[in-house]
Amino acid sequence: MKLSRRDFLKLGGATLIAVAGGSVFRAVDQGMFSVGQSVAYELWTNWRDANSPTERIVAAGILASNPHNSQPWLFRITDASIDLFAVPERQIGVIDPFRREMYIGLGCAVENMRLAAEAEGFKANIRLMPDPRTESHAANISLASASPATSPLYEAIPQRHTNRAAYDTTRAVAEEIFSGIDSLVTESAVRLFWFKDESALAQFGQIAITAAEALIADEQQSLDSHAWWRQDWDQVQESADGITLDAQGLGSFISGMAKFLPDLSRQSNDESFFKNVRDIMVPTAAAFGILAVPDGMNNTQRLQCGQVWQRIHLWGTTQGLAMQPLNQMTERADREVQLGIEPVFGKSIADLIGDDQWQAIMPFRLGYPTAEALLSPRRGLEKVIA
Ligand SMILES: Cc1cc2nc3c(=O)[nH]c(=O)nc-3n(C[C@H](O)[C@H](O)[C@H](O)COP(=O)(O)O)c2cc1C
Repeated sequence: MKLSRRDFLKLGGATLIAVAGGSVFRAVDQGMFSVGQSVAYELWTNWRDANSPTERIVAAGILASNPHNSQPWLFRITDASIDLFAVPERQIGVIDPFRREMYIGLGCAVENMRLAAEAEGFKANIRLMPDPRTESHAANISLASASPATSPLYEAIPQRHTNRAAYDTTRAVAEEIFSGIDSLVTESAVRLFWFKDESALAQFGQIAITAAEALIADEQQSLDSHAWWRQDWDQVQESADGITLDAQGLGSFISGMAKFLPDLSRQSNDESFFKNVRDIMVPTAAAFGILAVPDGMNNTQRLQCGQVWQRIHLWGTTQGLAMQPLNQMTERADREVQLGIEPVFGKSIADLIGDDQWQAIMPFRLGYPTAEALLSPRRGLEKVIA
């Protein structure tokens, strides 16, 4: 049985305090009994209910993957067009010093909107970075009437969630799955590199783990990451963004119990993140992949990479796969450039893909899930349409 916050409070505070002490109230207060419910999560269920087709298309865009759930977007709409803008204030600090992830996330939103436009009976004519003088103008989408076409990827939009839990180490991923994913990479500016044999898994895994360690040891990166951590229920409701306890892949029971505890400090959060990368995320992955582009600083290519990532994650969802970006190595490589220090990770990543025509911008892991990934919050249409 799921109790809403109000139902729970109706049961009577005095009895509950007598039975379980004040910590029950903390759990209620932290939304223990309403994981994925409430206003911050409602877009996942009502995204097709908005009045106009363009609003419904934007709602699909908002459900896209995006860095640290910062949702760095603003939309301007008419009946026949959508303009997508980057919001520099929502940059995740020195985790993403050159806004690589920001533009990848915007590309993810473009892909969801393309699929939703088709389902709404439009052909979407997409121009990426349409105005060279305005760096924040990420895309212009003009809509021309066509017959509605709903694809399985469109249907997967509300089912896709980043899965940070352990993956099933007893279940291999078949070759047809890898080739199915390869066939989704239709943009010539994007190339996918796989790491799936034992030595490639070990090499990628080692870099991912040392990058996570280096990231939490960099105080500014740690602070900028923690700024998007939302543990408090009211905070989640108010901001409807950021990384939540529920999205950590601990399972609803453990995340529910964790809500009995006081807010995690930045240090303990960093420590458990690092342990998760080392003990769970890396060792249970069936394979790793890296999406690369010719020029990692080029926003058009980053946007295209985002479109490809979103498509891969949606298709993976239709196949019952679990996926998670693992960007610490690219975040460290960017940070090295920003600080002008030795490019330790820059070099390791270049060695990893072993082709100097391509620059790695989106590393990830995949496998079969052992636990369902929970919803992450989203800001509603009224917050993101200008
Ligand atoms: C460019 C980019 C980088 C990301 N990097 C990471 C990462 O390093 N680790 C991680 O767990 N999730 C990462 N994510 C996933 C986001 O945190 C996730 O999409 C966001 O919190 C929203 O949650 P959802 O995907 O479940 O809707 C990344 C997503 C994007 C688009």
